[in-house]
Amino acid sequence: MMSEPLKFAVIGNPISHSLSPQIHQHFAQQFDIDLSYEAIEAPEERFAETIEQLQQKGYHGVNVTVPFKLQAFDLASFKDSYSQLANASNTLVFNQDNTIAAHNTDGQGLVKDLSETKKINLKDKTVLILGAGGAVQGIIKPLLDAGVSSITISNRTYSKAHAIAKKFSSYAEVFAIQQALMPYTPSFDMLINGTSASISGETLDIPSNLVTKNTICYDLMYSKTDTAFVSWAKEQKVAYAYDGLGMLIEQAALAFSIWHDQKPNSISTHKHIATLLNS
Ligand code: ATR
Repeated sequence: MMSEPLKFAVIGNPISHSLSPQIHQHFAQQFDIDLSYEAIEAPEERFAETIEQLQQKGYHGVNVTVPFKLQAFDLASFKDSYSQLANASNTLVFNQDNTIAAHNTDGQGLVKDLSETKKINLKDKTVLILGAGGAVQGIIKPLLDAGVSSITISNRTYSKAHAIAKKFSSYAEVFAIQQALMPYTPSFDMLINGTSASISGETLDIPSNLVTKNTICYDLMYSKTDTAFVSWAKEQKVAYAYDGLGMLIEQAALAFSIWHDQKPNSISTHKHIATLLNS
């Protein structure tokens, strides 16, 4: 008798443009694993209910994206150290006894993309992060673990940047800076856009003194064409301007490893997805 495929999904709102189903199917093919992976849009107020239904239907786990990462974290009885520091989770494992384990692979995914795929040495780099939402909280500790020398956070709402800096200040050099001071600061080795401005089609007013030709610019968001931040970075003629596609693939690879105990070849999947996006 044919056995049923293992069931997975990504849950968000909106979710229709998610690449996660294609990414996980490509990983699964590498190991001949038979799985289903759907993109499910949960109503804003019904995340917990949606999760319960999927558990009852025998799903093995889910990825979680905007705006449910905090709720995903709250539902779990086991929380890994990365999700604890981020207060958010992008990967859930449904256990046999109906309990849920929460992981956060976003930050490690970013570091893996930068250091392994893009071969960037993060050691001793000075980093400026724009934004202070959930996505930013998740990347601070993995960047510090990778050896960056300092992280400065600037956000439209200063109090949020200050709160994150305070939370992580016991680990190392993490600062918050008022937006009004940005035109007067020296440049950074790396500039990361962690704002969601591009989702709503808004552009950021970024002073050009923040970068030099050697600065690495990285947008946590990705899109088929250059994001507004990547376009801005290219206009400044910086050495490297990347969007977050690599981070998306690597956070998925880490989630896949948690679920299947197998390490997929993410470079081959990255090529496959880039081809899909360009077709
Ligand atoms: P996510 O989970 O993707 O991080 P979030 O927690 O809603 O989403 O955070 C969004 C971040 O983008 C915030 O830092 C937000 O700034 P505020 O804290 O001031 O709201 C930032 N952001 C969104 N739109 C922006 C815009 N047009 N200009 C500047 N910052 C923006």
